[in-house]
Amino acid sequence: MKKFYITTPIYYVNAEPHIGSSYTTIMGDIIARYKRMMGYDVFYLTGTDEHGQKIEQAARQKGIEPKQLCDELAGKFKQLWKDLGITNDYFVRTTDESHVRTVQYFVSKMLENGDLYKGTYEGWYCVPCETYWNEDELEMDEHGHKICPTCKREVQLIKEENYFFKLSKYNESLLKLFTENPEFVEPDFRRNEMLKILESGLKDLSITRTTLKWGIPMPDDPQHVIYVWVDALINYVSAIGYPDNLETFEKWWPADLHLIGKEINRFHSLIWPAMLMSVGLPLPKKVYAHGWLTVNGQKISKSLGNAIDPREYMNKYGNDVVRYYLARDVMFGRDGDFSEENLIKRLNSDLANDYGNLLHRTLAMIKKHFDSKIPEIKTLEDIDRKLLEEYEETKRTYIELMERYKITDALDHLWQFISSLNKYFDETRPWTLAKEGKMERLGTVLAIVTENIMKVATLASPVMPNSSAEVYRRLSMEPVFTDHVLEGWNNLKGKSIIHGEPLFKKMEKIESEKTNTEVDKMEKLNNKPEEEKKLEVKETSDSKAENVVTTEEFLDIDTFKRVDLRVAKILEAERVQKSEKLVKLQIDLGELGKRQIVAGIAQYYSPEELVGRLIIVVANLKPAKLMGIESRGMLLAAKKDGQLRLLTVSGDIEPGAKIS
Ligand code: MSP
Repeated sequence: MKKFYITTPIYYVNAEPHIGSSYTTIMGDIIARYKRMMGYDVFYLTGTDEHGQKIEQAARQKGIEPKQLCDELAGKFKQLWKDLGITNDYFVRTTDESHVRTVQYFVSKMLENGDLYKGTYEGWYCVPCETYWNEDELEMDEHGHKICPTCKREVQLIKEENYFFKLSKYNESLLKLFTENPEFVEPDFRRNEMLKILESGLKDLSITRTTLKWGIPMPDDPQHVIYVWVDALINYVSAIGYPDNLETFEKWWPADLHLIGKEINRFHSLIWPAMLMSVGLPLPKKVYAHGWLTVNGQKISKSLGNAIDPREYMNKYGNDVVRYYLARDVMFGRDGDFSEENLIKRLNSDLANDYGNLLHRTLAMIKKHFDSKIPEIKTLEDIDRKLLEEYEETKRTYIELMERYKITDALDHLWQFISSLNKYFDETRPWTLAKEGKMERLGTVLAIVTENIMKVATLASPVMPNSSAEVYRRLSMEPVFTDHVLEGWNNLKGKSIIHGEPLFKKMEKIESEKTNTEVDKMEKLNNKPEEEKKLEVKETSDSKAENVVTTEEFLDIDTFKRVDLRVAKILEAERVQKSEKLVKLQIDLGELGKRQIVAGIAQYYSPEELVGRLIIVVANLKPAKLMGIESRGMLLAAKKDGQLRLLTVSGDIEPGAKIS
């Protein structure tokens, strides 16, 4: 059996987990489940990073011992992963005795191999990131204080006698690794960042501290404690038995994938491989550094009050919905934003409308016309063959993309296929076949759709395990996901179906987003007598569920003409403070005058690049406020695979020109 060893970073226990820290674990869980489905023997590791100055300080502030803080928080992380349905195979803690022993063994080997020496470190240190910085890497805040380029908090000047690791000695070997093995670090722009560091030359690294007690003592020199990052990185081998249990260790090592956030890339892609080279262990196969999540455009932080417990969303919308939203809406590998409003949009359109409703209406017809037994796929027509071919192509591409961790693209592809399934359902007109008594053809159509839904549920199961299990239950299948069911047809013939509640319930927009008219409408409904209310709700849900009278969603020309599309010229551009995404633009719309719009393009264009450009704007969009800044209109851009390009005209034309 092929093995797959995947890890997340181990989380600091100075604060409670939030939606951002859960992101890595959820994405790791998707990959782990996917590999299991594809027949791999998987080991999925996560855990907690419990030593160092940051934890010691957090405990002191609470007036408790560091170990007590660690025990409390490690318990909370474990509970969270359980509540989120994370399928980690082990949870490592750096205060575990076996981990401590492994770290001391590992560091002794580095010493034996002549890679450590004593020296004095005098320089900058960021406690929140537990990182040493060179003077020229630091940034400056508005008060002239030196701040950390990662977390933007003030750094400390420290001077200590330390052990140093000869990191510089491995510069050449690392360059070779990066050149010979370009897929070692992904995405490629993250690899290039690492290459630049290597090209400018690595400095030796201080790997012990003497001004701190909360850490693992250096073997034979206990007033030194081992630098928390060296201690933490070793978790990836201590958790699988190095060096005591060599059989297990050799089964899993090297790791197939270290999944991490972008800010800790250099520890994983440079320092960790150098440490492994020093003790003579094989290197991990890949480091994948994903982007950062903001919430409504803002950095996640306790002080901003947006460090939300993911269970809040999970309880409200369900685990699967949050997992799908994160995997689909945030382009994996890039920075992304979490917004409840967008989550609801995905839930209502992709999940409830496109996926759940298709299952619902298919099973309704099997119940009605085939006594709840899945019919047989018999004679195929061209339209059927085309659909089955499209399925084969979807499966192939989905797998290919997932193998390359292009999770967002894989889901995109799968949902395109769900659209095709809906189209097939509408075009084959099963309700007409039923009316005309063409039962064999009706059976074929319904069986084709059902079997494709089952295959979609299987492919989507790493992302949405609960709803896929529910689809299986409705089709009398055991909820065990394997790739076997992805092959062949007529696997479901004769099975009983359960036509239950819709798979996903649509949600109203969040309170703050409701327009006055919507609130009015709801108030009116709430004030109606009970009977009337029931009738109204029944009518809408029935017509959605049994949506057998199809309406093709064409836009009529008059509707389109109501959109006032214009050419505009960008006069000024500046980034919106505290937002990674937004840019404020002053634009010239010719006869419509000058105005301000706010656009989410900061990650793709710098303000300097924007000034002077001709863009296309929806001029009559209802004004809105984004992070408190008014936007009167919306620019148009094309987005795919994490790339964004502005729409423009092919030559010069006066601002204000109408687009038709
Ligand atoms: N303890 C170190 C890792 C040691 S691994 C040998 C550490 N811990 S951390 O708790 O600060 O962050 C761990 C990881 O949490 C980040 O690398 C990232 O994967 C994830 N995230 C924390 N906040 C995040 C966001 N806002 N968005 C996405 N991921 C984030 O660094």
